[in-house]
Amino acid sequence: MTTPIINVLFVCLGNICRSPTGEGVFRELVEKEGLADRFRIDSAGTAAFHIGEPPDGRSQTAAMRRGIDLSNQRARRVRDEDFRRFDYILAMDVENHTNLMAVCPPGEEGRVRLLLDFAEGAEGESVPDPYYSRGNGFEVVLDLIELATIGLLDDIRTNHF
Ligand code: 4NP
Repeated sequence: MTTPIINVLFVCLGNICRSPTGEGVFRELVEKEGLADRFRIDSAGTAAFHIGEPPDGRSQTAAMRRGIDLSNQRARRVRDEDFRRFDYILAMDVENHTNLMAVCPPGEEGRVRLLLDFAEGAEGESVPDPYYSRGNGFEVVLDLIELATIGLLDDIRTNHF
């Protein structure tokens, strides 16, 4: 029997802070669980400002403190084909969720989800944009994403494996 590959795309505005963190944290989690070969994981942005750039240095530093290397990632924009290729298209905030739904091809809306709907106790909420934050915004991003990706993997195990 062939085992299914689950395709997971993390999406934020710029694809330099939150969604690269989502990609890195989830990749680390599935590797730790011995499930790396069951997943294709990527990230993208709804805006074009930072295409081709590596993740924000503050995101890289915060992730590296938790043993997660984001340095090889490069920003790209969400493409039409993503709505066919990815089983889970995970918006970091409500605004990006709304914008993804607005461009989602008819019939594919079920793929587009709010990431924090998988975070116990934070359902319906947004991962705050840390770009202009001066405090611990990048740590908050990591904490929320770690919580949500545990719930996400539980959901995938229940529904796909
Ligand atoms: P991200 O953060 O959506 O988490 O990558 C942002 C990055 C850049 C900008 C806004 C948010 N910006 O305005 O350039």
